[in-house]
Amino acid sequence: MKFIHLTDTHVVGGGQRLYGGDPASMLGRAVASINAEHGDAAFVAITGDLTHWGEAEAYAAFAAEIAKLTMPVHLLVGNHDVTEAFVQTFPDAPRDPNGFVQSTLDTEVGRCLFLDTHVPGTHEGAYCETRRNWLADELAKTSGPVFLFMHHPPFSVGLAGMDTIMLQEAETFYDVIAPHKDRIRHLFFGHLHRAVFGNWRGISFSCMRAVNHQVALTLDPSKTDVLGNRETPAYGVVLADADQVVVHMHDFTQVDTSYPLSAPKGEDKRAYALAFDPI
Ligand SMILES: [Fe+2]
Repeated sequence: MKFIHLTDTHVVGGGQRLYGGDPASMLGRAVASINAEHGDAAFVAITGDLTHWGEAEAYAAFAAEIAKLTMPVHLLVGNHDVTEAFVQTFPDAPRDPNGFVQSTLDTEVGRCLFLDTHVPGTHEGAYCETRRNWLADELAKTSGPVFLFMHHPPFSVGLAGMDTIMLQEAETFYDVIAPHKDRIRHLFFGHLHRAVFGNWRGISFSCMRAVNHQVALTLDPSKTDVLGNRETPAYGVVLADADQVVVHMHDFTQVDTSYPLSAPKGEDKRAYALAFDPI
């Protein structure tokens, strides 16, 4: 099964720019790329920060772009979102009985759990007892494979400025998932605006670059300012089956720059490689 992991679209309303970019336009390019290159994907999961300021017109602009997707989309909220405005634009988006933007999706490769780590008024993430109880119940309903999706990572990654706004009280979150750890196939998250891959206590994870602006790789623990940069946007293409989970990061704005690595038939391989210049 193939699915797409897109994150941190940070759309603003009224065609405004954000850090020099046009988030709605870039989301449109991502949507066009997904439809054209991965139209066989089962779904797209967007792991939060759908808008930058959380205004109604930003959600409207976001909705207009994702409406063009040719496959189902599953939406999460992040620290830049405003749940009330999100719900007004997406009244049919699934939520848990307490109103949190949390839902489950059963697929041929396992149960996807879309979690809500948003708390109003802060960029930090939270996963309160109410949400933990919902997650515990959902995990208990199945004994099969599970895929977790959330906005905030429940661990630090060495980016001091971002680590301070990770999921707070992460150990209480871990306590809920720990009994099920062996069947959690992968954890997908956003928030970091960087490509980050690894393993947390035995759980593999990945984070994709954002759509409009990225976060610089600043690994000095004394540098707590979060710096942006102009690394290219990307989304994840996930291939999952009973044996493995493969995550490809796709720099979707770079597709037109591809060129053959093999020499044309009859030409000398070395001469071709030495002489070819894609620029
Ligand atoms: Fe973000």
